[in-house]
Amino acid sequence: MTSFHKAGATFFAFAQAFDLRHTPTPQQAAAIEAALDKYGVVAFRNQAIDGDQQHAFTGAFGKPREATFKELGSANTRFVDIGNVDYDGRAIGPESLTALYMRANLLWHTDGSFNEKPTRYTILHARELPPVPPPTEYADMRAAWDALPPARQAELVGLRVVHSIVRSREQMGMTADQFTADTLQSKPPVEHPLVRRHRLSGRRSLYLASHASHVVGWSLDKGRALVEELIAYATQPRFVYSYDWTPHDLLIWDNSRTMHRATPYDGPHPRKMRQSGVHELDVV
Ligand SMILES: [Fe+2]
Repeated sequence: MTSFHKAGATFFAFAQAFDLRHTPTPQQAAAIEAALDKYGVVAFRNQAIDGDQQHAFTGAFGKPREATFKELGSANTRFVDIGNVDYDGRAIGPESLTALYMRANLLWHTDGSFNEKPTRYTILHARELPPVPPPTEYADMRAAWDALPPARQAELVGLRVVHSIVRSREQMGMTADQFTADTLQSKPPVEHPLVRRHRLSGRRSLYLASHASHVVGWSLDKGRALVEELIAYATQPRFVYSYDWTPHDLLIWDNSRTMHRATPYDGPHPRKMRQSGVHELDVV
């Protein structure tokens, strides 16, 4: 019998009795979606799956998102492969464009908020880990919203925020001329609500990311100050869970109600993570 167990007093859960070599049934997929609404992040441990099996798992939740970052030199469009070695097994130099692009993963963010239809669920599989893997941190944006005083909540509801991929990368030293023309044309800045309602439970959460630039109708400085203040507020230790990876873990998270960030790893051991996802249906 499959089930989910919360990790202590957190928003993070472990799934039990799933074998992801087999594509989830519609009933199992619905149970996982309900768990994501309840918990935000769900870990499936010890899942030695291949790319086809990860693709099939992803497809249980919608049309798999295409990985379209030309900057990464990716050979496939099913996955974003993250780590410190390239497709041929060679170390990715810390000054390469790929490394620069990936460095933005160290900033608190929610995946794909620079898209009109952001990533709804992200799936990340640990294919190969160093002996002491860097943890991934998650922030509970629903709990952060719930903890705000009602008067503060009333000030924030209705605000809209501009998100762009250039904003997160420029914070890590990348300049606009380092993006391909394709990326700049296909990913113009987009607007999203600052406060979202969950499509299943209807509960509210803050929607922020390193991609968040400023507030629509406000001056750049005032809007950016609000974005920075709220990200700092929502990533206090009381809202954060740090996950320690073990080999072949697969995590799935709901980007509409969480943020996450990578933590640094400088080698020397190979680290290979494989990411897939599905798009949001509507941003509300
Ligand atoms: Fe991410």
